[in-house]
Amino acid sequence: MFHSPASPYARKVRTCAIARGLDSRIELVPCNPNDSPADLLAGNPLSKIPTLVTDDGVALFDSPVICEYLDSLGDALPMFPEHGAARWRALKLQAMGDGIMDASVPRRGELAKPKEAGRDALIARWRAAVERALDALEAEVPHKAVDIGSISVACALGYLDFRFPQEPWRETRPKLAAWFAAFGEEPAVAATVPHG
Ligand code: BEZ
Repeated sequence: MFHSPASPYARKVRTCAIARGLDSRIELVPCNPNDSPADLLAGNPLSKIPTLVTDDGVALFDSPVICEYLDSLGDALPMFPEHGAARWRALKLQAMGDGIMDASVPRRGELAKPKEAGRDALIARWRAAVERALDALEAEVPHKAVDIGSISVACALGYLDFRFPQEPWRETRPKLAAWFAAFGEEPAVAATVPHG
């Protein structure tokens, strides 16, 4: 799997793999997608990580697809609930977590560049989206169960702590903070915390 240790999307996949006992079957290939390396492009024309190349040579992306593929291997409990309310709740939380990442990963890149009026508006829009998503998660905190929804939200919150430590979110969201503290102790989550 092409990945970066800093990528919250790759962390999602690694967390699912550990939770399902599959991590030892995945070879991690560090790469910088911004360099469009040829071996990544051979599998993923979008030059995005994570990209997983199966033993059959099939390149799978993006993280929801890879995580669902992992669910098709082995017989551990699935990360995607199969039916009903639990499934839709987990998929919605996955979208919420991925959405926080989608707004935060490019924001971090843009913040490192010189100020420019047009870009400031976009940066503000991304930040506002994340603030609203955090408020929504405070109003409806994820379950304790380890599934694709709770993993996605945890990886998104972990990315905020990792890349935006100067933007505290816990004070006004005590329920979400308590959930995250407890969920962070899950072995698969604790094993994948990003480091600088
Ligand atoms: C980061 O350094 O924050 C990062 C790197 C790769 C993918 C996503 C985020």
